[in-house]
Amino acid sequence: MKKIIIINGPNLNILGKREPEIYGNLTFNEFLEQLQKKYPNIIIDYFQSNVEGEIINKLQDVGFSYGGIILNAAAYTHTSVGIGDTVKAIATPVVEVHISNTYAREDFRHNSFIAPNAKGLILGFGLQSYELALQSFLF
Ligand code: DQA
Repeated sequence: MKKIIIINGPNLNILGKREPEIYGNLTFNEFLEQLQKKYPNIIIDYFQSNVEGEIINKLQDVGFSYGGIILNAAAYTHTSVGIGDTVKAIATPVVEVHISNTYAREDFRHNSFIAPNAKGLILGFGLQSYELALQSFLF
C-alpha cells in the first residue's frame, strides 16, 4: 500500500480555533479522519510540530522510504533555510501545500524556501489543498 505523510508546521495544531475566516472551522483531526475514510487504499500518516528541528527530523525519517510527503511548513515556509535544505536532500517527493493563497497575503508570505525543491505547489483551496496534493501522488 502506498504510504503518504502529511507534515504540518507551527500553529496548524489549532486549526478550527485559529483565524477561522482564513483557515476555516474544522480541526485538522476532523479533516484527516474524513480524508483517511475517503482513501482507504492509501496509508496517510500525520505529523505536526511547532518546532523547526522536529519537522526536519521527521522529513529525514520518512524521506527515503515513503511514497510522498505533503508539507505545510506554515510560517517556516517563509523563513527556514534548514527545512528547505532537507527537502532538497531527501529522495521522497514533497508537495508544498497551503490552506490560504499566500500570494494574496502579505509580501513576506510570497517567499518559499521549500518551493524550489518541491515536486509542486498547491495553495489557496482551504483544507482541500491537502486532498489535491494527495491526488497528485495517485497518478
Ligand atoms: C499557511 C500560510 C502561512 O503563511 C502561514 O504562516 C501559516 C499557514 C497556510 O496554510 O495557509 O501558518 O501555511
